[in-house]
Amino acid sequence: MSKPGDKVDIFALADSIMEQVENFTTDVKEELEQFRIDVLGTKGKLKQLFTGFRDVPNERKKEFGQVVNKVKATAEAKFNSLKEQLEDATAAQVEVPDMSMPANFSNIGSRHPIAIVLEQISEIFTRIGFTVASGPEIEDDWHNFTALNTPEDHPARDMQDTFYIQTNPATLLRSHTSTVQVRTMGRQEPPIRIIAPGRVYRNETISARSHCQFHQIEGLYIDKGVSLADLKQTLLYFAKEFYGPDTKLRLRPSFFPFTEPSAEMDVSCFICKMKGCKICKGTGWVEILGCGMVDPNVLAASNIDPEVYSGYAWGIGIERTAMLKYKIDDIRLMFENDMRFLGQFKAAY
Ligand code: DAH
Repeated sequence: MSKPGDKVDIFALADSIMEQVENFTTDVKEELEQFRIDVLGTKGKLKQLFTGFRDVPNERKKEFGQVVNKVKATAEAKFNSLKEQLEDATAAQVEVPDMSMPANFSNIGSRHPIAIVLEQISEIFTRIGFTVASGPEIEDDWHNFTALNTPEDHPARDMQDTFYIQTNPATLLRSHTSTVQVRTMGRQEPPIRIIAPGRVYRNETISARSHCQFHQIEGLYIDKGVSLADLKQTLLYFAKEFYGPDTKLRLRPSFFPFTEPSAEMDVSCFICKMKGCKICKGTGWVEILGCGMVDPNVLAASNIDPEVYSGYAWGIGIERTAMLKYKIDDIRLMFENDMRFLGQFKAAY
């Protein structure tokens, strides 16, 4: 029986370590770590062999050195290969998708409140036979003013601060979609029944309440025998569809150069149901749009005989409509593309 400290024992110990190393295998990370501590660690079995070196008789030192080096190399190789296998297995595991996991939510964009309101209003009018017309945003003076019964030097031109193109003052950015009335009458015989959504521009200081660009929808109906009653009934239909079936309507006399008579349309306050609130300023009524019977001069300017035909027109501001509908208190929010603002309209339509 050999005792610890026996000079030959150290060779036997080397052999047994070698055997342990050669037979060792694992696919468990913790076991491999234990192997490393046991064999290769600073207080491990290899260390024990190195320490025993000094007790080996001189003539066998060389032989023992070779044995120990071989054990060390084998242990290290074993450790490294097992470690690599373990890492490969872990990597392979990561690559296998877990089919039971819930899918990632993709971030769906939302529609702009202006687009939502434009589409809702357009849909309400196309349902009763209006078609969608359009015209250019860069216009000439004639379509924006003159043909709409607003000759040069007419004080009504001051109602809208217009952007003129510097190099050609007869060219401007349209200040209202009423231009499309003229464009349509220029290319189409009555009966005419159109709506014209689009962007308009005015030289106004940007504030919470006004902007230098905004949107309108124009409406125009021309036929034989069109009356104010038709206008009122059409607008009542619109108001009920858009603001709810209990909505009431009232027309207040107003002035626009292109309509005679002209009116401003109010609807019963859809926020407080006419009890009086901030939105309707306590009156129970909210101003919605401008309208009227097309002025005979406007028909004549587009070569439509005012003795034969009559018509009505209206124009509605989209930003104002959307602000009322969604209780938005600053028009600038509409043009800033702030995701925190836009994200609120996800469920709106
Ligand atoms: N064009 C007018 C504006 O921008 C709105 C308007 C009022 C349009 C009466 C109409 C109308 O067609 O009949 O202020």
